Amino acid sequence: MREVYLDNNATTKPLSEVREAMMRVMGEDFGNPSSAHSAGDRVREAMVVAREAVAQLVGAEADQIVFMGSGTEANNTVFNSVVQRAPMGKRVRIVTTTVEHSSIVKMCDYLGGKGVEIVSVPVDRCGQVIWEALDEAVTPDTDLVSVQWVNNETGAILPVERIARLCQSRGVLFHTDAAQAVGKLPVSVTELPVDFLAFTAHKFHGPQGIGTLYVRSSKELLPLLWGGSQEGGLRPGTENIPGIIGMGTAARLRLERLKDVQGFMASLRDRFEQSVIAQIPDVEINGDSDMRVCNTTNLLFRDVNGQALVARLDQEGVRCSQSSACTNQRPEPSYVLRAMGLSESEAYASIRFSFSEFNTVEDVDETVAHLARLCEQLRRFSRRRLSLLAEVG
Ligand SMILES: Cc1ncc(COP(=O)(O)O)c(C=O)c1O
Repeated sequence: MREVYLDNNATTKPLSEVREAMMRVMGEDFGNPSSAHSAGDRVREAMVVAREAVAQLVGAEADQIVFMGSGTEANNTVFNSVVQRAPMGKRVRIVTTTVEHSSIVKMCDYLGGKGVEIVSVPVDRCGQVIWEALDEAVTPDTDLVSVQWVNNETGAILPVERIARLCQSRGVLFHTDAAQAVGKLPVSVTELPVDFLAFTAHKFHGPQGIGTLYVRSSKELLPLLWGGSQEGGLRPGTENIPGIIGMGTAARLRLERLKDVQGFMASLRDRFEQSVIAQIPDVEINGDSDMRVCNTTNLLFRDVNGQALVARLDQEGVRCSQSSACTNQRPEPSYVLRAMGLSESEAYASIRFSFSEFNTVEDVDETVAHLARLCEQLRRFSRRRLSLLAEVG
């Protein structure tokens, strides 16, 4: 059976150029960049090229790029640093939103339990942060504001530029989790007064297990780990060379083709949405259909058991998901959709489809055909179940 992979916000398939570049540094071009001999030199040189490519993807200087083990680690490092650097006796105050990725939500839960003041600003039905609440929350004694650039479940684009300027005007550090933004929309830290920006290679056809933290000024960051002087001491430990080289290759290729890929993914997503809405009754788009990243749609199939629909699509070869990859093993409704005001049953009936440059028009049309048939079957089944229950009751 042909696989139709529409879960690209969970992870993307590495490009063949990425795999080949990684294989080279795991083969004849291996080495430890800390070594003072030629094997070390060749790896150091390859790292310089990769770092430059990753920096260019976000408009940064190469020395502002810190390679880490994941987007999760990059996010955690910022929060940990802010808490560790706070003056003795100061109650740390962090402002964030209710729709962040679990790597931030869980960190905030943990820090909240240790006495840190966490203010989670609500969002509206479109998944947009409520500006007045944010404005009020960012007090001069706030130590960090952290707001995601693009939501992983709905694709909503948050107003990070406006938030960055607000934080700058109040002298507050600003971090953005840009894991779902980088590689899907133009990102330039030269035009955005952001202090930290986290992203991860596997969302734009790089390898898993390699993330990057952009750090405007290294004076503002304490490392999470302690050890050698790798990454300027900000991320000690022998570098993940295959990962770094793979991320550099993916970054270079994505930057070269960003506009085309963006347009292509948007055309597939729009075709998919229009066909679904035309062919299947009672389907709604969750979130803002304008302020949205190019590859994502989150659809509410009224009166359909979303978990069953994901499983039935999987049997047909179509991969998609409910909520995010880090949380969707749990049979709980998406906290992101709940924060946007959807009821529990609406959240359970919602599914995310996320496209990549590898998808095709055939993928879209085949998935819509499966969806039309499966929604009809599942709705018939649930109507029958309800009428049986009514008879018994
Ligand atoms: C918005 C967002 N932030 C952070 C992460 C975490 O990245 P990683 O998988 O590299 O830990 C993800 C990935 O799922 C994400 O979508």
